[in-house]
Amino acid sequence: MVADNTLSIRDLRAGYASLDILNGVTLDIPQGQFVALMGPNGAGKSTLLKTIFGMTQHKGGNIGWNGGDIAGKTSRHVLGQGISYVPQGRCNFPLMTVQENLEMAAYTIRDAGVKSDRDYVYDLFPALKTRRSTLAGNMSGGEQQLLEVAMAVLQRPKLLLVDEPSVGLSPAAIGVVFKELIRLQKEGLSILLVEQNTRKAMEVADRAVILRLGEVIWDGRPADISHDELGDLFLTGRMRTEHETSRHKETLSV
Ligand SMILES: Nc1ncnc2c1ncn2[C@@H]1O[C@H](COP(=O)(O)OP(=O)(O)OP(=O)(O)O)[C@@H](O)[C@H]1O
Ligand SMILES: [Mg+2]
Repeated sequence: MVADNTLSIRDLRAGYASLDILNGVTLDIPQGQFVALMGPNGAGKSTLLKTIFGMTQHKGGNIGWNGGDIAGKTSRHVLGQGISYVPQGRCNFPLMTVQENLEMAAYTIRDAGVKSDRDYVYDLFPALKTRRSTLAGNMSGGEQQLLEVAMAVLQRPKLLLVDEPSVGLSPAAIGVVFKELIRLQKEGLSILLVEQNTRKAMEVADRAVILRLGEVIWDGRPADISHDELGDLFLTGRMRTEHETSRHKETLSV
């Protein structure tokens, strides 16, 4: 049973040294919700995930979680509060087996109960159990991405932050990774997923949040926004007016 947890981000400002990247982000992620965070390159999506996980310079605002404020806290503290982070790219140990990778992840989290944690992850990801003796670096990109998620899930988080898991994967592998994320959501996890594959993200998420220039410019149900509107928001930060849309159609029909 997962305790009730909502992540409440309020007027969050953060960046790197003197660089301001997040310019007042406000966002709630209720427990059990699957939120897709999208936006153009450089919008600050990874920075938002890193900021929640205590890896950037906090410059103002709050991140309410578990009855406290985790803004500006260390990654270790945030991890201890039940938030796990899967960074972009592959971060496993390629010359170690799947099992050894899971053990490494477990040891960094706690010093007891490694075996039960590993069994818990194997129950969640039977595909990894069958590959447990395989070197992580010899697995496919999709399998390695599942391993990354499994390593984060070992921490038994209530909220999972995942940065672009589909990069470099085949459509079939993307399908598997997303299916596993949906299953984790069904287990009660909240998920904040950064994703460039907007079509796929809109398919699986309960909610879409669009970030541009370090600000949330749209937040709603995927069903309430079309792909054309999404494209407009990415490019210009706003949707076309009806007048602009009809002018555009006229131009196309000439
Ligand atoms: N470690 C860093 N030091 C300084 N600036 C950084 C650092 N990491 C990112 N930035 C800058 O912060 C801005 C936002 O970067 P971020 O990686 O959050 O964007 P993003 O939305 O995830 O983009 P993408 O879709 O390309 O992954 C960019 O201008 C980037 O150059
Ligand atoms: Mg990024």
